[in-house]
Amino acid sequence: MKKIELLQSVSIFWDLTEDELGHISKKMVSKSFETGRMILLEEAEGEQCFFVTKGSVKITRINKRGQEVILAILRDGDFFGEMSLLDGESRSANVVALEETEVLTLNRKDFLGVLEEYPQIAILLLKEMAHRLRKSDRQIASLSLSAAEKRIALCILRIAEEQGVIQRGFVSIPKAPIQQDIANMSGTSRETVSRALKLLEKEGFVQRNGRELIINDYNRFIKEFDS
Ligand code: CMP
Repeated sequence: MKKIELLQSVSIFWDLTEDELGHISKKMVSKSFETGRMILLEEAEGEQCFFVTKGSVKITRINKRGQEVILAILRDGDFFGEMSLLDGESRSANVVALEETEVLTLNRKDFLGVLEEYPQIAILLLKEMAHRLRKSDRQIASLSLSAAEKRIALCILRIAEEQGVIQRGFVSIPKAPIQQDIANMSGTSRETVSRALKLLEKEGFVQRNGRELIINDYNRFIKEFDS
């Protein structure tokens, strides 16, 4: 398949005409990686951005206990390797091919040049990066809750199911139980309830207004704590 046809499968290039795609594709080099091949190594210097035209990759980091943590799985139509080209720092994560994977690569100078020449690509790239940040934020929020704190979140959900009223898209519990009662209901301590509520508030899951407890986005709350 010609490079220009391959490029049409990458989402951030969808707004471009065939001529524009042809112009950009001339700057690109195609590469393929077999299953399990390490494509990028965390901490290495970044020289290229990658556009996946076939296959899939996992984005990983190694935690303090030496275990692999998968941050994301990206497929054909996605891109990776843009971060270190944009901020000049080293690679933020490892990237490993999960199957036979084909990519088109763009070097730093051409990548930055393309973003300047075609602002519509820059906007789609920012949109995707915002989407990834939201996902990471959700992961951080759920990971930072301990098992007891998660039980408290579930307990709040049960209270909302029984006593919640829907108001302007929020679910409000007008007279939420006091912290000691939530602790008793969830088998935790008042201190843990206080900490969990602070965390949930900080992460934008709930708001407190005296005895009133508001769940900002009910569907997001369910997705996070009850699925
Ligand atoms: P870079 O830091 O250059 O190299 C590793 C790449 O992994 C990074 O660019 C991003 O493209 C990608 N990456 C890092 N973190 C995430 C994430 N949380 N979700 C999706 N992709 C990511």
